[in-house]
Amino acid sequence: MDYMGKILTNKSHLTRRNFLKRTAATAVSALGAPYIVPASIFGANAPSNRVNVGCIGTGNQGVQDLKGFLNQDDVQVLAVCDVNRASYGYAHSNQYLGWEPAQKIVNEHYSRKKRSGQYKGCDAYTDFREVLARNDIDAVTVVLPDHWHAVVTIRAAETGKDIYCEKPLSLTIAEGRAMVEAVKQYGVILQTGTHHRSDEHIRRGCELVRNGRIGEVKRAIVVLGPHGKREYIGKWQPQLIPKEFDYDMWLGPAPWAPYHSDRCLYRFRFFHDYAGGETTNTGAHCFDVVQWALNTEHTGPVEIEDTGSEWPKDGLYDAVSKVSFRAEYANNVELICGPTGKSNLAARFEGTEGWLEIPWWNRLISQPQSLVDSVIGTNEIHLYRSKNHYRNFLDCVKTRCRPITPVEIGHRSATVCHLGNIAMRLKRKLHWNPEAERFTNDDQANRLLSRSPRAPWHL
Ligand SMILES: NC(=O)c1ccc[n+]([C@@H]2O[C@H](COP(=O)([O-])OP(=O)(O)OC[C@H]3O[C@@H](n4cnc5c(N)ncnc54)[C@H](O)[C@@H]3O)[C@@H](O)[C@H]2O)c1
Repeated sequence: MDYMGKILTNKSHLTRRNFLKRTAATAVSALGAPYIVPASIFGANAPSNRVNVGCIGTGNQGVQDLKGFLNQDDVQVLAVCDVNRASYGYAHSNQYLGWEPAQKIVNEHYSRKKRSGQYKGCDAYTDFREVLARNDIDAVTVVLPDHWHAVVTIRAAETGKDIYCEKPLSLTIAEGRAMVEAVKQYGVILQTGTHHRSDEHIRRGCELVRNGRIGEVKRAIVVLGPHGKREYIGKWQPQLIPKEFDYDMWLGPAPWAPYHSDRCLYRFRFFHDYAGGETTNTGAHCFDVVQWALNTEHTGPVEIEDTGSEWPKDGLYDAVSKVSFRAEYANNVELICGPTGKSNLAARFEGTEGWLEIPWWNRLISQPQSLVDSVIGTNEIHLYRSKNHYRNFLDCVKTRCRPITPVEIGHRSATVCHLGNIAMRLKRKLHWNPEAERFTNDDQANRLLSRSPRAPWHL
């Protein structure tokens, strides 16, 4: 599925947002569906040039994304939203986060830009529905624990907001599919937060693999070691819910559970009810790169099996503690995911004529060494180019073109994570039909494709 160049609008009334969409639509059709339309065609100060953003979730990554959008001159952050007013207790002990510090960041940013030095225009909310109800907001960020991504994204799509949703796109495969359908139905733009796609060297590594520089690809290898913030918490007692932390709204669609600070802020990723351990945390980035390089980003593996994963027997956290599984694509390319090896890599690719390692931050490494300098010819495969994930999203909000990581691709990358977790949980070989999005040999595995949200929440 490809939304490239498609003009997406199915609203009849003329809101500020639809005006913006229509202006963009004219520009796109005039230019014949380009990947990126230069901002100059809108005019620097044109009303259609500004994208009003609401930031939902202002914790560890929420504030990073907020700052990423503040750095873009054509963005106006009008609202921040979090169930936590403010506290320490996130990934690092000195991180002080929540809606109040986020609101301060926004107001100080715009104060510095104003002649008077006074700006108080950013509103703060604890209920995301109030952000979605605002007609003057064009786009929202969804930077919440994974168990909230689907509900908030679907409600946002229903109100016509464009969405920057963090990785992993979903908590379950059924949720991901529902998100794809909602984005399509309401004609909104969604960028998945797997921002490494916008790193030049990662794109180039994927291009080298796609263009056969390592020969016929045999396998992709991903290393997911233990997470540094997952300290063992053995016997634990429920804690008092902090004042000005809306715990019921934090739990939302997840089953009720007694409060503990390490259940919530940042460490939610180590719980099955809210996330999927390292498989979905770092794995969501790694598998996104693998799928891009293998050209499987609209499908997925057909076979998945556990290769020695470990799960906690006691303590607070219950998501997989040692990730280890093997998958295979229809063309027999293997995906090996284990806990040991070079953990600074997005992935390593091995082929009949060499291998290539794609580190997160540094230069590509290959055998033969000359491979990394190989020039990709004009008639070869060139992948989507984006230099900045936020910028790419904003450009697509204006042009209605397909962003670099649209919902379907985000869904398929998250699917690899979920398939791995299901196979590791059941500890048996599973056969997957990527078209039907069902297992063909295991009813119990099929029951793990979805979860019932806690009332009153629904997809
Ligand atoms: N792209 C990346 O590199 C990257 C990096 C880190 C995290 N993430 C993703 O970002 C998401 C958030 O992770 P994090 O590390 O920021 O977690 P976090 O716990 O630090 O932040 C989540 C915030 O959401 C708030 N929240 C929870 N429910 C809410 C609700 N219903 N309404 C409003 N606010 C609510 C929490 O109070 C918290 O402040 C996760 O999906 C994670 O995978 C992406």
